[in-house]
Amino acid sequence: MPQPMFRPRRLREKALLRRLVRETRLTVDDLVYPVFAVHGRGVREAIGAMPGQCRLSIDELLREAKDAASMGIPALLVFGLPEDKDARGSEAYAEDGIVQQAVRAVKDTVPDLLVITDVCLCQYTSHGHCGVVEQGVVKNDPSVELLARVAVSHAEAGADMVAPSDMMDGRVAAIREALDEASFVETPIMAYSAKYASAFYGPFREAADSAPQFGDRRAYQMDPANAQEAMREIALDLDEGADIVMVKPALPYLDVIARAKQEFGVPLAAYSVSGEYAMLKAAAQLGWLDEDRAMMEALTAVRRAGADIVITYFAKDVARRLERAR
Ligand code: PBG
Repeated sequence: MPQPMFRPRRLREKALLRRLVRETRLTVDDLVYPVFAVHGRGVREAIGAMPGQCRLSIDELLREAKDAASMGIPALLVFGLPEDKDARGSEAYAEDGIVQQAVRAVKDTVPDLLVITDVCLCQYTSHGHCGVVEQGVVKNDPSVELLARVAVSHAEAGADMVAPSDMMDGRVAAIREALDEASFVETPIMAYSAKYASAFYGPFREAADSAPQFGDRRAYQMDPANAQEAMREIALDLDEGADIVMVKPALPYLDVIARAKQEFGVPLAAYSVSGEYAMLKAAAQLGWLDEDRAMMEALTAVRRAGADIVITYFAKDVARRLERAR
């Protein structure tokens, strides 16, 4: 008897069958939506290299937050643009800083939404680096002290989770200790553990006005060529008390995401960054890509690689698209 031929196409024939055997799902539950808060009222300022994204004053941010919550998006990731920048980024840890105000406002008015805050200094420092600069060098330990203050000030404002993105050594441990001391033992840390020195942050730096004024970030963010080192960074952050770890960017680092999921099996986030968003938007505007399909394919790939949480500027578009498909 000849072996009957196995025909993989049998399971591809009908849409309902394809649904039954689908291995990966991108759902609204997986999404985190990054937003940019600015001082003022009635501000909704378009970001050039991120079509569809705006810098929002708090009143406008609240409308965006309600919108996101009504679509079932579980969380915002809040970034802030300060009134003034200085050498030590003092608005980053000011009680009435832009992020602290935004967190309070969202927590007061939109209960069904988690507020995660980005803990960093680069938007707040005059030199645009993610820490304290001395003699042209970003100094690790003094930066960590300030970052811990930033995290505590966010928790005091009501943040549900803090997300350090600075890549200083030892910052997760310092933030955990500072949070615990301030009685925020229940506030989780989502660590940007494997954050690469990436060209794909370009549009974000325009949006957040956070480009370094001298040099670059390669002395603290990771070399894009390294994957083994990413595992070491993740192990360190877990040791220091990270609750969720992150790989960033997402699409050019799917191998790192896959390895991280396999090796650690802990909750894993991937940040599909501004440049990934800009690429798809630009190609779509030129008529070169079907934006909706490319968006779903790219973000489903991030989930397939192993990310549990997908941070994306497309969050609302994905939510809308999933709703339409139901
Ligand atoms: C701050 C920070 C950056 C991003 C998130 N947090 C910029 C950077 O490190 O230069 C990038 C996000 C994006 O590109 O969407 N350190």
